[in-house]
Amino acid sequence: MRMDSTGLSLSLILSALMLLDRRSNTEAGFVRSLESCKMIGTMAFCQGEKLDRVPANLPVRTEELLLNENIIRAINNGSFSMYKSLHTLNLSGNQIEVIESGAFGYNGNLEDLNLKNNRIDLTYSETHLALRTLSALTRLDLSENRLNEDMTSYIVQNLTTMEYLSLAKNFIMRLEPSTLEGLVHLQELNLEYNHIYEIESGTFEGLGRLTRLNLAHNHIPCIVDFSLYQVKTLNISHNAVELFLAREIEIEFQLETLDLSHNKLLFFPLLPKCNKLKSLLLADNEMSFYSDLMNDSSTEVQFIQIVGNVTNITTVNLWDEVISVSLPELEVLDMSRNSFRYLPQGFLRGMTALSTLQLNQNCLQTFSLMEDEPLLFLQLMDLSQNRLANLNVSVNRMEKLNHFNISFNELQSVPSDLFTKMPQVATVDLSHNNVSICAYPFKHEKRTLNGGCVGLANIKSLKHLYLASCGLETVPANAFVGTPLTHLDLSSNTGIRLETSTFQDVSESLQFLFLSNNGLTSKQLDVGLRVAFRHLSSLDLSENVLTSLHPVLKTLPLKWLDLRKNQLSTLRQDVLRSLLHNLEGILLSGNAFDCCQLSWWTSLTNAKSLIILDISKVTCNSSVRLVDLHRISHFTKIHCRFDNTVLKYLLLLLPTLVFIITVSVMVFLSLNSKLLPKYVKARCKMGTEY
Ligand SMILES: *[C@@H]1O[C@H](CO)[C@@H](O)[C@H](O)[C@H]1NC(C)=O
Ligand SMILES: *[C@@H]1O[C@H](CO)[C@@H](O)[C@H](O)[C@H]1NC(C)=O
Ligand SMILES: *[C@@H]1O[C@H](CO)[C@@H](O)[C@H](O)[C@H]1NC(C)=O
Ligand SMILES: *[C@@H]1O[C@H](CO)[C@@H](O)[C@H](O)[C@H]1NC(C)=O
Ligand SMILES: *[C@@H]1O[C@H](CO)[C@@H](O)[C@H](O)[C@H]1NC(C)=O
Ligand SMILES: *[C@@H]1O[C@H](CO)[C@@H](O)[C@H](O)[C@H]1NC(C)=O
Ligand SMILES: *[C@@H]1O[C@H](CO)[C@@H](O)[C@H](O)[C@H]1NC(C)=O
Ligand SMILES: *[C@@H]1O[C@H](CO)[C@@H](O)[C@H](O)[C@H]1NC(C)=O
Repeated sequence: MRMDSTGLSLSLILSALMLLDRRSNTEAGFVRSLESCKMIGTMAFCQGEKLDRVPANLPVRTEELLLNENIIRAINNGSFSMYKSLHTLNLSGNQIEVIESGAFGYNGNLEDLNLKNNRIDLTYSETHLALRTLSALTRLDLSENRLNEDMTSYIVQNLTTMEYLSLAKNFIMRLEPSTLEGLVHLQELNLEYNHIYEIESGTFEGLGRLTRLNLAHNHIPCIVDFSLYQVKTLNISHNAVELFLAREIEIEFQLETLDLSHNKLLFFPLLPKCNKLKSLLLADNEMSFYSDLMNDSSTEVQFIQIVGNVTNITTVNLWDEVISVSLPELEVLDMSRNSFRYLPQGFLRGMTALSTLQLNQNCLQTFSLMEDEPLLFLQLMDLSQNRLANLNVSVNRMEKLNHFNISFNELQSVPSDLFTKMPQVATVDLSHNNVSICAYPFKHEKRTLNGGCVGLANIKSLKHLYLASCGLETVPANAFVGTPLTHLDLSSNTGIRLETSTFQDVSESLQFLFLSNNGLTSKQLDVGLRVAFRHLSSLDLSENVLTSLHPVLKTLPLKWLDLRKNQLSTLRQDVLRSLLHNLEGILLSGNAFDCCQLSWWTSLTNAKSLIILDISKVTCNSSVRLVDLHRISHFTKIHCRFDNTVLKYLLLLLPTLVFIITVSVMVFLSLNSKLLPKYVKARCKMGTEY
């Protein structure tokens, strides 16, 4: 009983303590929630503090209030009445369902209101009334509020001061002129990630100042009669647009950036006649030119427009239209990942300011640049992943071209003077073609034009050269003379013969050398790398058949070395020691190292400034299974050493030992044959005693 009562009082005291504790906790919590806002000047930071109401004790002079990521459900009439100086208010990521109509009655200075990711859809009409009182509002974010077009229309109509409006990630399906009525000052409108499939003509007509319109990630099926001549940036990417037709008027369109990528365009868009387009992004469509299929080189398309009960048939000759459009200010043209088989002659003629031309991942079978298509400002040309068997470049000079990618084609040769026409070319990617490299001086210069080699000597600007998977058998003498390469990729030219002369001409400049997957043996490395490389810092020797680190590697000032997927069983300590002077990173996985010769591993893991980039994948072969090297413990090592040394010697000595023992036993027996009976007797005697 006694015990029980003490127990009881103890538990009483305990629970009282706990109660106290809890109370002091909630009190602390309350105080914190009031003080949870940090003030810096007139900015109050109250993000992510689990606040369920607007704090009432902030300085009245607060101008910027960040209340995002809290759990506020309602904004009441009095909520912000004391913060009359407020000009920026962030309420995003709360659970706001109600904004009472008088909520901002005292916030006439509020310019920037963020209501992103709330539930404004539940009481949108009251929200509209509250917003109407904000006579200085210029920026409003209503994204992620589950608003449909009717709610949207109701909330934003007549908010005449607004300059920026985001309605992204809502449930808007169609737009009509009344939806955005009265937003006369709107400059930027974001409608991305809605479900818009229809935009009635005239919808944006009242928005005379609109310059940026984002309609990305909707379901718009086509744009006909495009007439937003005030808009500078239009993003319609990630829709279902099959056709883009601008209205044929002589008014100058202000459009500078048009993003139509990731759509279903079948034809090159019909752009406004007078335009200032700088960036035309058409990647990831299904475009092609079709006039080669027609005998009269025209592509007539009829558009049937049905408005009410009136049917209007318009005939457009897409071919003529494309050619007649000039794009004098166009700088970026991205037509990658389409279905182009060819570009019409003269297509690039009007694009005199072009600096980036992306035609990669099409089906181009021919590509030519005529003399009347000078492309004086072209810096980047990507023709990779097409079906080009040759290039026809009769243009004189491409003065500014810096980056030229023609990898993954079917080239057999390139015009031997091609790169001399590109005095600034720094990067050339010829990988995955079937080209060979010309010796220098070019022997049969006339023949090489179509006879199958690429001249790479004396290109003074060339730094990065990619020749992976070109079926190269050899690099002829002096091939790179006068070309100061820093990066050279010769990977996947299986069986390529490296000569002492191969890298001779680039030994001063070369910094990165890729020799992966070339079937290289240690001996061939010895021949190829026996050059005084001055700056070679990165060497990729992965996927070859190296069985040991050749001493030639000692001479290289390498910082990065890739030795993955070879047949190395150990790394020579002397070579390693030299390498470790400079080495910063190494890759080693995919080799079957010998688990019993791991002293090199200890040296590597002990080297402080070295990173073994694939350390978790390096394995050794314990002849039974592959062991993860970084998990190997001391015990295993000792065990392994025992196995191999003591046991090996024992096994080696075993026959000799057996022999010696046998011989000595025989000798012993023959010498003391008389002892035997005695011995037996003695044993027997002893045995009988038991
Ligand atoms: C909030 O204020 C508005 C106008 O100032 C008023 O009409 C409304 O009744 C008020 N709401 C509440 C709940 O007091
Ligand atoms: C917007 O203004 C127009 C004209 O002033 C008016 O007819 C319309 O009712 C207003 N809309 C809303 C939602 O207030
Ligand atoms: C268009 O919108 C998409 C999706 O938001 C975006 O990835 C792309 O960068 C935009 N394009 C431009 C030109 O800003
Ligand atoms: C083009 O002309 C050839 C003969 O010259 C004819 O066989 C073919 O049908 C014509 N194709 C079209 C699309 O008119
Ligand atoms: C077609 O429209 C006209 C005027 O809009 C109307 O008078 C006529 O009745 C309509 N016809 C039909 C068949 O709906
Ligand atoms: C038919 O389309 C043409 C070209 O867009 C236009 O000029 C004409 O007014 C349209 N007619 C009708 C009846 O809509
Ligand atoms: C060239 O294009 C290919 C394929 O489009 C790409 O993988 C490669 O990285 C590009 N080369 C360079 C140097 O950018
Ligand atoms: C590991 O060693 C055993 C015996 O030496 C050999 O049969 C086996 O092929 C080796 N495994 C690998 C992955 O090299």
